[in-house]
Amino acid sequence: MARGPVGQITRGTTGTNRLRRVDRWIARHPALRRAADPLVVDLGYGASGVTALELYARLARARPDVEVLGLEIDPARVARARAQLDLVRAGGTTFAPDAAVSFARGGFEVPVPDGRRAAVVRAFNVLRQYDEAEVAGAWASMAARLAPEGLLVEGTCDEIGRIATWVAMGTDAAPRTLTVSLRLAGLQHPSVAAERLPKALIHHNVPGERVHAFLGALDTEWERAASVSPFGPVHRWRTALSALVAGGWPVLERSRWRLGEVTVPWEAVAPR
Ligand SMILES: C[S@@+](CC[C@H](N)C(=O)[O-])C[C@H]1O[C@@H](n2cnc3c(N)ncnc32)[C@H](O)[C@@H]1O
Repeated sequence: MARGPVGQITRGTTGTNRLRRVDRWIARHPALRRAADPLVVDLGYGASGVTALELYARLARARPDVEVLGLEIDPARVARARAQLDLVRAGGTTFAPDAAVSFARGGFEVPVPDGRRAAVVRAFNVLRQYDEAEVAGAWASMAARLAPEGLLVEGTCDEIGRIATWVAMGTDAAPRTLTVSLRLAGLQHPSVAAERLPKALIHHNVPGERVHAFLGALDTEWERAASVSPFGPVHRWRTALSALVAGGWPVLERSRWRLGEVTVPWEAVAPR
């Protein structure tokens, strides 16, 4: 029996530059860099196709042969993004007229044509509007469409992309890492990320849960590192993260600390 796209239409809020933090994380990831077929899906791109076009522009610097397929469950938003693409093709925007970007209707089943599999599926600010009980099924459905070494990145951010968090996983749909990425200039305390946690964690940010302990430890060390503030917020962030490591937190991806990022293994924050 023919089935429609899996999922539901939700608010389409999006914006220029909103997803820059996760774009640049994906751009460095081996799942893209080493992909045999660098097909990247932007699932649930929203009221405009701008994040898919930006994703292409950023990833093409790392993989010039990347292709981005924007999928939306709302047919009106597919029509709108295709009209935008016509403008791009006509040279009427700042995006490359030959950008390898296309738009189609689809849901968590991730309809990828010609039997291809996605190197990366990025679903941002999509699950936020679902129930927590729907998360595992959505992850499994999206992860099933990945190439063997492919990557699913599912996360949330604020309206202007200064606060972003995401979970990464492979074909087994078992989360591997949580990344928190923050604009450090003017940052009061890192636990501002609490209100933008992925759906799988946001309701678990309460005493006794690991993610609560993690954000609390980040706040404590950020506060303690205030003494090095005169050397700039990046220095302060590095100092705070070094202290986290010294305190036994299994912080990963040290080379990305300067970007205001911190990545930890999922087990360090997983709900109990
Ligand atoms: C808040 S917008 C996010 C737009 C963009 N990803 C961003 O972060 O700026 C969420 C979009 O996801 C779409 N959506 C929700 N569930 C979906 C699904 N199962 N498959 C495809 N799109 C979906 C909604 O229709 C909506 O347009």
